[in-house]
Amino acid sequence: MKRLLLVFHAPSENTQKMLNVMVEAIEKENLQSVQCVVKAPLEATYEDVLNCDAIILGTTENLAYMSGALKDFFDRIYYPCLEVKQGLPVAAIVRAGHDGTGTCRALKTILTGLRWRWVQEILLCKGPWQDEFLQDCQDLAQGMAVALDEGMI
Ligand SMILES: Cc1cc2nc3c(=O)[nH]c(=O)nc-3n(C[C@H](O)[C@H](O)[C@H](O)COP(=O)(O)O)c2cc1C
Repeated sequence: MKRLLLVFHAPSENTQKMLNVMVEAIEKENLQSVQCVVKAPLEATYEDVLNCDAIILGTTENLAYMSGALKDFFDRIYYPCLEVKQGLPVAAIVRAGHDGTGTCRALKTILTGLRWRWVQEILLCKGPWQDEFLQDCQDLAQGMAVALDEGMI
């Protein structure tokens, strides 16, 4: 069984909806070889990362950076995972009330350091809330899960 880890900071109703539709989209696929594991960043451990085969990160933008919770996750997992998880397939979603630039830049910098492998561009859900964000989140999660199931990533 392959593990798809979702580490998603969802402090608001909208971000919780984003996470929920992603999990539902993955479960709906009923994939034989992929198990979805969901963790809040403050609860996710380096063992979760060591044991996963692909990862989806989610964060709000706060004060022009990723959430403190996701930054704390990286601070804790960085060295334990650095050597062994190079090439880990990763996708990321950023929910930003009006910008998102600083968070996208920071994620790219950290993941370059970790040498994880982007499977698609960061999904930036920016500006006032739009229900279309949910479809984008579903598509990303479903695509990642199916690709993992089929051995494409
Ligand atoms: C303390 C705080 C700081 C924030 N800083 C930023 C920011 O720097 N850039 C930005 O685009 N949005 C910022 N926001 C807005 C959040 O990104 C947004 O509220 C969050 O993504 C939740 O979205 P929602 O209102 O659709 O649930 C901030 C929100 C809070 C509470």
